[in-house]
Amino acid sequence: MRRVTWGGRRRLAVAGCALVFAAAAPTGHAEPQAGALIPLPAESHAGSGSFHVGAATPIRTPGGDGGAERAAHYLVEQVARLGGPALRVGAGRGHGHGGAISFERRRGLAAEGYQLEITPRGVTLAASTDAGLFYAAVTLSQLLPPARSGADLPVRQISDAPAYPWRGLMLDSARHFQPAAVVRSMIDWMAWHKLNVLHWHLTDDQGWRLEILKYPRLTSVGAWRTPASVASPADGRYGGYYTQREVRDIVAFAAGRQVTIVPEIDLPGHAQAAIAAYPELGSTDGPPPAVSARWGVHRYLFNPDEHTLGFLEDVLSEVVRLFPGRYVHIGGDEAVKDQWQASARVQLRARELGREDPEVLQAYFTERLGRFLAAHGRRLVGWDEVLRPELAPDAIVMSWHGTSGAHAAAIAGHDAVLTPWPTMYFDNRQSALAAEPPGRTKVISLEDVYRFEPRDATLSEAEQRHVLGVQGNLWTEHIRSDERLEWMALPRAAAVAELGWTPAARRRWPEFLARLAALTPRYTALHLHAADSPFAIDARFAPDVGGIDVTLVNQTGFGQIRYTTDGHDPGADAAVYAAPLTLAPGTTLSAATFDGRERISAVWTRRVDRQALARRDSQELTLCTDGVGLLLEPAGADRPVAVDIMNPCWIYRGADLSGGARLEAAVVPLPFNFELGADLAKARTGAAAGAVGELEVRVDGCEAEPVARLRLPATAQAATLAKVALPQLPGRHDLCLRIIRPALEPLWAIDWAGVGD
Ligand code: ACM
Repeated sequence: MRRVTWGGRRRLAVAGCALVFAAAAPTGHAEPQAGALIPLPAESHAGSGSFHVGAATPIRTPGGDGGAERAAHYLVEQVARLGGPALRVGAGRGHGHGGAISFERRRGLAAEGYQLEITPRGVTLAASTDAGLFYAAVTLSQLLPPARSGADLPVRQISDAPAYPWRGLMLDSARHFQPAAVVRSMIDWMAWHKLNVLHWHLTDDQGWRLEILKYPRLTSVGAWRTPASVASPADGRYGGYYTQREVRDIVAFAAGRQVTIVPEIDLPGHAQAAIAAYPELGSTDGPPPAVSARWGVHRYLFNPDEHTLGFLEDVLSEVVRLFPGRYVHIGGDEAVKDQWQASARVQLRARELGREDPEVLQAYFTERLGRFLAAHGRRLVGWDEVLRPELAPDAIVMSWHGTSGAHAAAIAGHDAVLTPWPTMYFDNRQSALAAEPPGRTKVISLEDVYRFEPRDATLSEAEQRHVLGVQGNLWTEHIRSDERLEWMALPRAAAVAELGWTPAARRRWPEFLARLAALTPRYTALHLHAADSPFAIDARFAPDVGGIDVTLVNQTGFGQIRYTTDGHDPGADAAVYAAPLTLAPGTTLSAATFDGRERISAVWTRRVDRQALARRDSQELTLCTDGVGLLLEPAGADRPVAVDIMNPCWIYRGADLSGGARLEAAVVPLPFNFELGADLAKARTGAAAGAVGELEVRVDGCEAEPVARLRLPATAQAATLAKVALPQLPGRHDLCLRIIRPALEPLWAIDWAGVGD
């Protein structure tokens, strides 16, 4: 779900419950010599002997073969970036002999397939297509270790081709805008994972990001919004757009990386920014809307008039001129029909068209624009809402309501792409650790993605061929920086790559993890901010008579955890964690996960004392409900807070109340900038004392009478609330901490809470 959701269709799990932690122990053995190869090739056979690749090894391409030359230059560039030897492309014909790396054309291989042979006499990269040669180069770049002096590559024979033709990621550039250089960089790292489709979400309620020459207001007005803020007036505009020139450059760069860009112009819903620019496209007679600064499903729909359809066709004519790929996405998702139903003009038009059912009226958009695209040699792609009996046979259905859309589409004879909520929605966080950036509180771990099975065994073989592949979606409501985009994408995109490329029988989770660990330093070499969530340290504390007990784990159990207690970062020779530690209060504990001598997680450091035990930030608390759980970033804060925007309420587990403890908490205000539709009525406020509201504290459940109340600050500002005494009760108890406020705005969240003396 890219947007706020309601209605139970996509309920979010309570934060932090979904993870299974295992004690860290060495597990996962890479396929011999697989090294840092992701995705794993379809077939690979090891032989004996090796071939040395170093700066003196020439690269040869067949004379006059531009595709082979491009793949060869890519290999040189990529190996250099990864810290390998400085290779050079030399002229001359070569076919794998004579101590060279030789590219060659070989007939009869699959469209994106290739063969890579390492013999004691040289390396041959063979394919029938440019894509195949490029992927052979990618594979060789991953096989070479990052050593300038080069390496002895063990003899092996790889025969490879992808399981699926669509291995994609979706980038939402509407909610947050990424500069052109970031989009190029994403295409670059996608290609290095053999991902080949960038689905580019260019328009939405919060911004129109594609320059359209005929309609300049789409970007002069529609690309800019005034951000929501608890401080008013809000400071400055947010926005940006891609000029057609930038788009052409990006498309050309993508072509060189074998990536097809599928542009999305979302309609008839998600149209508020366009309607803000050209109000006559809308379906109401009221004042024109502003470009939205709110998240969720909005009500602004394009009207079905001939003028509007003509406008959309004009837009699509520029789109097809810019994007040479075969596919154009027209959205179709989440078009709530309230405005159409309320509009006499739209109703009249619907009757004229004989399409009074609003879903059938939406299908009119799909049909008209599908015909327009077909006349321009393109295939229409739509979210699974477009799947209706009248859908044109060659339209492609993108299944996001689970996998049912793809299943139904395949049975109906349509091609389909699997991108199911929640597994393929990478705005969900990857772990419950405090280091995760803003997003949704549901945890979708790397393993969750890896274990997704694209093959639907209930479909016939012919129906299965309609499933073109898999895609992960980067919805960016809560992803505002380029580093965070990479964090949310990687390494989960590596799992998508393997699902899309590697045959099911070859996919094994522990072995994938071992290859990912080997790839991790390569991410660093490429300056990618990949998440370390699968390997990051998670510490649990428990008081003990002798001090404080600390248990260290990571999400996957992969690798060795090493630690120090002297304030230094753990190195490859630091003590290996084997069992819970009992530490004297005041000890500084640092830990990290290692794969052999290679550190593969950030260093985690904490002063272990009783205060650290008592104080928890909102990500370490449990949300009381799973309405719409989000990690949001308060203005000026350095870390997000976890909150269910439908019910700001947290559980502090296991508070020791035996000694007459006191509670202290800090709160932060956030703008309530969410479109909740009919569910607005379910968002919880309450009869609070005073104008601002209170934090109510209950013991053992959220329904009992409050045992304490803490007043929120009178103005919307971050504040630490005064300590209040808790009842003296034997043993440990769960505290329910709920914010009661008279209005939805601002949304208050607990930043941290502490229970102590
Ligand atoms: C979607 O998440 N609305 C496709």
